[in-house]
Amino acid sequence: MSKIIGGITTSHIPAIGVAMDKGLENEPYWKEFFAAYPPVRQWLNEQKPDIAIVFYNDHGLEFFLDRKPTFAIGTAREYHNADEGWGIKPIPPITGETDLSWHIVNSLIEDDFDPTVCQEMRVDHGLTVPLSLMYPGHDYQHIQVIPVAINCERHPMPKPSRSFALGQAIGRAVESWSGDKKVVMFGTGGLSHQLDGERAGYINHEFDHYCMDQLVPNPEALTRYSNGDLLKIAGSQGVELAMWLAMRGALPGKLTELHRSYHAPISNTGAGVMLIQND
Ligand code: DHB
Ligand code: FE
Repeated sequence: MSKIIGGITTSHIPAIGVAMDKGLENEPYWKEFFAAYPPVRQWLNEQKPDIAIVFYNDHGLEFFLDRKPTFAIGTAREYHNADEGWGIKPIPPITGETDLSWHIVNSLIEDDFDPTVCQEMRVDHGLTVPLSLMYPGHDYQHIQVIPVAINCERHPMPKPSRSFALGQAIGRAVESWSGDKKVVMFGTGGLSHQLDGERAGYINHEFDHYCMDQLVPNPEALTRYSNGDLLKIAGSQGVELAMWLAMRGALPGKLTELHRSYHAPISNTGAGVMLIQND
């Protein structure tokens, strides 16, 4: 039987990847931010998950505004990054997974979700930066990755409650799979941030802490928000809470929060890290 061992949340800011590549982790600006990650890495090294299901959003690399699936799932053997506008970042390809991916696709359709199924898909910083954070030195090729992209860029976006329900459906799919693998869920992005417009730089610390307090014991406190609510309360990119909710929905068992950190601002973002074990 496969086992969902837990979930991890993390910001996915592109500058994090640049800071790691340049060895800036101990610089004053970055030190506290990176201090959040060793306990998460240690847990991953001890638990040794075989597969990571990564809930992320594609910021316009694979899906631009003209073609924007509400939910998309990858079924490829391998994934590559590409130029997001600041030059190609030479990182190793991400190892895909085909058996569980297709099982999830079939299970989702039966469960009345209708994702876009991608047998080829370029992946952006929303997926690559968290992987590099978890496995420094881009040492992530041993873990098989199933990308699940949630539209957070153009309206209409899925309701937060729907992203949570997608996570629940994916959790059910994993539990009904015959494979004998350890699976970890990543929810990337968030927390409050607004990158442009009049409120650029807007961060809501109080709301970010509220999200982290509620995520494990009471996710329904968060799924009741509309995207319009989130936009006002957490900034226009605060809607990235969707990936945290999908990750949380995919954790079906008895949950224990093992680790938490919050640091803001980093770039224009409230950066939250949570490590949640599923028993
Ligand atoms: C930035 C980009 C993101 O996708 C995000 O979620 C937060 C910050 C940035 O470019 O700073
Ligand atoms: Fe983002």
